[in-house]
This record gives sequence, structure tokens and C-alpha cells, in this order.
Amino acid sequence: MSEIKTIEITKPDDWHLHIRDGEFLPDLLGHTASQFSRAIIMPNLRPPVTTVDLANAYKARIKAALPKGSQFEPLMVLYLTDNTSASEVKKAKEHGVVAFKLYPAGATTNSDAGVTDLKKCSAALEAMEACGIPLLVHGEVTGIEIDIFDREAVFIDQVLEPLRIRHPGLKIVFEHITTKQAAQYVKEADTARYGVMGATITPQHLLFNRNAIFTGGIRPHYYCLPVLKREEHRQALVEAATSGNSRFFLGTDSAPHIKGTKENACGCAGCYTAWHAMPLYAEAFENANALERLQGFASEFGADFYGLPRNTSKLILKKESHLVPDEFPMGSGTVVPLRAGEMLTWSIVG
Ligand code: NCD
Ligand code: ZN
Repeated sequence: MSEIKTIEITKPDDWHLHIRDGEFLPDLLGHTASQFSRAIIMPNLRPPVTTVDLANAYKARIKAALPKGSQFEPLMVLYLTDNTSASEVKKAKEHGVVAFKLYPAGATTNSDAGVTDLKKCSAALEAMEACGIPLLVHGEVTGIEIDIFDREAVFIDQVLEPLRIRHPGLKIVFEHITTKQAAQYVKEADTARYGVMGATITPQHLLFNRNAIFTGGIRPHYYCLPVLKREEHRQALVEAATSGNSRFFLGTDSAPHIKGTKENACGCAGCYTAWHAMPLYAEAFENANALERLQGFASEFGADFYGLPRNTSKLILKKESHLVPDEFPMGSGTVVPLRAGEMLTWSIVG
């Protein structure tokens, strides 16, 4: 059989993206808008996007920074805090905010305003159940006694399962899953008795295991949260993403940081993948002999989960290698992409 050289898929959406704000927006947005029709814009700015008014203002700044003529649509999410009110949840639903994001306090970049105890959010969570607005979770516990490689698996038992039992109508997306435990939990979640469940998977967690962070020295551009895990977990994620199970869909978690804040004695967490997201996913799916499943994962299941129409335009990828640049402009600094200076096997051609 001859090798597949070109694939045409429905234009994808990115269900988990960080694009920061201000001077950074114009440089970063074009990368996403050239591949994706829509993206969920994560709200972990400083200060965080906690209200509908802040989200509307942020959305307007994003739209103003888009390349001329771009049809790209930012989907706004609010940052859940201990003080989020039920009335803000209702207002969010009325104004087209697509979800709330749970950052456990201290779990990741700009999470210090995050939730200290989910029980403090009961009224907001009940309102989310009532109006059908999903909760997106950064699924890691933060206790200093819990090993960083175990934080996601412990979160399932200590936080996620009790949350689903307390709020059986809550729709949840387990964001950027990194372990076989998370993949299995989502696959087996009882959505007849409890709320609908989905999970996003990043390109770096499909392509790399934790050795990538330590190959020949410390490699800060492979450091993200949740951190890369063992090979057995990577394999479980590949299996989930390429299984055709509609609970698993694309979310890059592209998280740009200025070069000097990653190449640093205390480097920030986040991999920059927005520029080459679809070539990276295509490579992961091809490695698993599952290119025919890419469209469902990238372009169908996420839209279905959020109750949004699937896109009608197309994206064409070609098996053609090209180089990942060393860096891209990011405001007055630069950002180093994942796999900088290395070759990609797939290119976007239309
Ligand atoms: C994200 C960021 O930099 O905003 N970093 C990351 O490593 N993924 C935050 C997040 O999604 O955890
Ligand atoms: Zn993220």
C-alpha cells in the first residue's frame, strides 16, 4: 500500500489555549488562527478573568489583535474562585461564556487566585449544573507531600470523584490528561448517573515521555504542568486519543512564556505548540497508524461536547518535513517553540 501523503480534515478547534494579553496577542494569535477555527481561551491572566465583564473586554482585545480578515473565534472561559457567585454563573451562560476553569490554588502558572477548597464553590457549581455550563479542571492536587508525578492520579480519588458525586449534573472536562489513570477514569466514567465527561490531550503528552525533560541536561522547553509522565502513560494517552472515543478531544495547552522566564533558575511551566500544533498531532496519530481518527479528535468531538456546530471549512496537511524555528517574536521578547531547531514530518498546506 502506498503511504498517505496528504490528508484533508474538517478545520479543527483548540479546546485549551493560552494566549496571554496586551502586546503578546498579535504575535501569538496568528499561529493559532492559521490552523484552528475556534479556541477556548484560558483565563489565567494576572489578574485572572473572573467576571463576564472582564471576559468581554478580553475578547474585544483578542478580536482587535487578530490578523486582518481572520474568522477565528475566541471562546471565553471564566476563572473559578472561592468567591464566584451563582449569579455570575447565570450571567456567564446568558453572555455566551462557554465554561468555568478550576485551578486548584498553587497548581500551575497564575493559579494563586485559584480555588482553595471546592466546597466553598457549592453555590457556583450548583448554578453550573442547573444551566449546563461545563467545569474545566486542572486535575492536580497541590499538597507538598504528594509527589509531582502522582498529583493527577491522587486528584481523581481525592477531588474529582467526590465532586462528581456531590454534583451529579455537572459537565466536566478533565484538561490536559497525562496518566493512564486519567484516561481510564474518563473512559469508564458513568455518565448515565453522573455528568457528561470529556478530556483534552496535548501534543507533547502524546509525543514525549518524561525523559524528554532530562535528555543530556535539563530541557526547560519540555517542562509543562501537569508534567510529562512515564512511557506507559504516554502510550495510554495515545490509545485514548486514537481510539475514536468521543470523550477525548484536542486541547493543545499551548502556553507561551518569554524565553528568559523558561531558561531560568526557576523556569515557568508551559510548552509553546500553537505554531505547529496540527503537524505535531498528525505525527502522533501517524505513529499510531490512526490518521483516519485525527478528524474526530481534532474537529468533531470537542464541538459536539460543547454543543457547538462542527466547522465546515477544511485544513489540508501534507507529509512534508520542515524545520521548527528557534524562536518567534513575542512582544518585546521571544518565545521558544517545542522542538525548536528540529524537523517536523507534516506541514499545513491549505
Ligand atoms: C499553563 C500556563 O503557562 O498558563 N502552563 C502549563 O504548563 N500548562 C498553565 C496550565 O495550563 O497549567
Ligand atoms: Zn493550560
